[in-house]
Amino acid sequence: MIEAIRPTADAVDILDQRQLPDRVEYLHCTRANDVVNAIQTLAVRGAPLIGVAALYGWWLEARALQGDADFLNLVARVKQDLDRARPTAVNLSWALDRAATRVAGLTGSEMVEAIRHEADRLYDEERQRSEHMAHFGASLLPLKSQVLTHCNTGSLATIGPGTALGVIREGYRLGMVTHVWVDETRPLLQGARLTAWELLQDDMAMTVITDNMAGILMARGQVDAVIVGADRIAANGDTANKIGTYSLAVLAHFHGVPFYVVAPMSTIDWTMDTGINIPIEERNPDEVRRVRGHLITPASARAYNLAFDVTPSELITAIVTDAGVAYPPYRDTLARLRAREQGSAIGGKINDAGH
Ligand code: MRU
Repeated sequence: MIEAIRPTADAVDILDQRQLPDRVEYLHCTRANDVVNAIQTLAVRGAPLIGVAALYGWWLEARALQGDADFLNLVARVKQDLDRARPTAVNLSWALDRAATRVAGLTGSEMVEAIRHEADRLYDEERQRSEHMAHFGASLLPLKSQVLTHCNTGSLATIGPGTALGVIREGYRLGMVTHVWVDETRPLLQGARLTAWELLQDDMAMTVITDNMAGILMARGQVDAVIVGADRIAANGDTANKIGTYSLAVLAHFHGVPFYVVAPMSTIDWTMDTGINIPIEERNPDEVRRVRGHLITPASARAYNLAFDVTPSELITAIVTDAGVAYPPYRDTLARLRAREQGSAIGGKINDAGH
């Protein structure tokens, strides 16, 4: 399986996803700023993966700052810079805040080592989370399904097999999935460039479609399930994910096609009651005006580039997490999964499927 991040003893090498599928090239990062740039330019992307990348970035900078009289202040400022690199995926601040709590009270080399330990630990945890989600999600699919997915949610967005793509991979292995429709995912083409590349590496049957083809495929009965990832899930199940996800959910609802969201528990933002206040990243309009650097609009055309949208929870059939599967009403079922994750189950028994 492709390694999107390779930590070494004194650096972190990040697969430059902007170059895919043309070239497999790693960025050699030695300071936090290298990692901030990689996150902002989408050289590294995907909610769980940017959390892991941020922790390695924090470690790199803490390491470089050792011995500075202002060490603790500088380290705190760097954490803030990493945290602000992208606004929508909550995994970024979740990973940094969890590590900060665990290294609190340390300084100097002890703190540097502890941050590295946290980064390695998150790396391992994310792999396990992916594997659990793949297991829970695959069991939801009927035999020989054709599924549709959006953006990239595989080994290029997580550590391990992925969120939605992990479920699809496992479903394929078990014969539940026979074919994958891959949305190209304008404007940055994460589907056409990255998901297609990953699936072909695994020799899976797949077809790239333009984002606006999903409707006719559903109307023709050629989509048995839509499976997507998430960047932030509110306590009531409202889900922010790559722009276009909401339109897919509306289409799926109209056509009676199940719509599954797959995300680790770390993607749930318990401070958000509903999705209404989830920050939506607005990116450079040039990403819409250009395709791989080539201008496709009149030079003076205005463009608008929202990178994410929010799907209301009533359009979501189930949310697959690493702790089990949640069904509506999500406010209750997600809270029960959280309690189970924390080892203090409330409200009765929950089986592997989260019931
Ligand atoms: O802008 P991106 O490419 O980082 O957006 C990624 C997505 O929207 C994914 O669907 C999401 O992060 C879940 S991936 C595990």
